[in-house]
Amino acid sequence: MGRYDFDTVIERTNTCSSKWDLMTPLFGQNDLLPMWVADMDFKAPPEVNEALRERVEHGIYGYTKRMTPYYEAIVSWVGRRFGWEIDPDWICHSPGVVPALSMAILTYTQPGDGVLIQPPVYYPFFDVIGGRGRRIVENPLRFTGERFEIDFGDLERKLDSSVTMMFLCSPHNPVGRVWTREELARLVDICAERNVLIVADEIHSDIVFPWAKHTPLASLSEKAASISLTTIAPSKTFNIAGLSTSAVIVPDKRLRERYRNTTSFLHIDGGNTFGTLGCEAAYRKGEPWLGELMEYIQGNLEYLDSFLKTNIPEIRLIRPEGTYIPFLDCRALKMNAKELQAFFVNEAKVAMDGGDWFGTGGEGFMRMNIATPRALLREGLERIERAVKAIR
Ligand SMILES: Cc1ncc(COP(=O)(O)O)c(C=O)c1O
Repeated sequence: MGRYDFDTVIERTNTCSSKWDLMTPLFGQNDLLPMWVADMDFKAPPEVNEALRERVEHGIYGYTKRMTPYYEAIVSWVGRRFGWEIDPDWICHSPGVVPALSMAILTYTQPGDGVLIQPPVYYPFFDVIGGRGRRIVENPLRFTGERFEIDFGDLERKLDSSVTMMFLCSPHNPVGRVWTREELARLVDICAERNVLIVADEIHSDIVFPWAKHTPLASLSEKAASISLTTIAPSKTFNIAGLSTSAVIVPDKRLRERYRNTTSFLHIDGGNTFGTLGCEAAYRKGEPWLGELMEYIQGNLEYLDSFLKTNIPEIRLIRPEGTYIPFLDCRALKMNAKELQAFFVNEAKVAMDGGDWFGTGGEGFMRMNIATPRALLREGLERIERAVKAIR
C-alpha cells in the first residue's frame, strides 16, 4: 500500500474543469466519459494542498513576487531529476507553456518566417505559429509500425533559410517518444548549422516510464544551450495546470534579455500567488507522490495494453516511453477521422482527442488519457469494447 490514494473517484463536474465541463461545446454532449485533455483525475499531492491551505489561512492575496526559494526549488528539481545544472538567473516566467511558445514567436520571429514542427503533434503548436502570420513547416514523424521516429533527411531539407525556429515536443505528445541523447544531439547539430532557434517544450519530462530516460535538450552541450529555450512546468506532473505557472529556462544571455523584454512589456512577470507557492511546494516535496503516481500510471498502461489485446484487438496501443496520454492505433476499424470521432462519441460515449487533431500522420489514431482512477479507465474501455462488438 502506498501513502497516496489514486483509486478514489472524485466528482469533477461543475468545478470549472475544461475536461469535465467543456464536453457539450466540443463533443456535442455531456454524458461522455472524458478521456481527452491532458490533466489528471487525481488530487494534487497533499504537500501542495497543504502549502495552498496555509496561504488561504493567511488570507491576503496581494501582488506576488517570486522569492529565492521558488528559484531554488526549480534549480534543485532539474538538477536532481535530470542532472541539469542551471543558474537561477536563467529562469524566466510564463503563465503557461503555450503562452511561452506564443511569446517566443513574438520575440524571435517575423511574419512570414517558417517555424518547424513534427506532426502528429500537440495541436496548439499550429495555432501559435499560424496565429501571427508565421508559416508552419512540417517535418512529419515517420511511423515504423511500432513507434514514431524523426525523419532527419526530411528535416535537413525542410530547414531552408526561411525557417528560423523549431518547436520540439520532448517528450512528444501524442506519440509518447522520449527522444534519446543521440537523436537530440543530431537535431542540435542540424539546427545550429542553420541558425535555427529550438524551443523545447519539455512539459512532459517528469512523466517518463522506467524503460526510457529524458534528457533536457539544453543540457547536452554549450552549443545546445546557446540555441534553445526550454519550457518546463509542474502543471502536468502534479496536476496543477489551473495554477497557471511555468518556467522558461534560457541559458543564453542575449536570448534571455529579449524574452524578458517581452514578458515585461506584457506585464506578466508578477505571477500568481497560488501558482508560485504550488510550484515551489511540488518541486520541493512532491517527489514521493510522483514516484507513486508513476507506478499507478504504469499499472494503468499495462491494464490498457492487456485489455486491448484481450478484448479489442482492433485497437492497438502505441507503447509510450513517456506521457500519460498514449496514442491508440485504430486504423483496423477502417473509419476516416470524422467517422472515428463520431463512433467514439455516439457509440462508445467517451470523449477522446482525435488523432487528426494533431495534424499530418494522426488520422486513424485516437489519444487516450489514462491518468485516472483504474475504475474509470475500466469503465471507458468497457464502453469502447461494447461499441466495437456491436460493429464486428
Ligand atoms: C506538449 C504540451 N505543451 C503544452 C501543454 C499545455 O501547456 P500550458 O497549459 O502550460 O499552456 C500541453 C498540455 O497538454 C502539452 O501537451
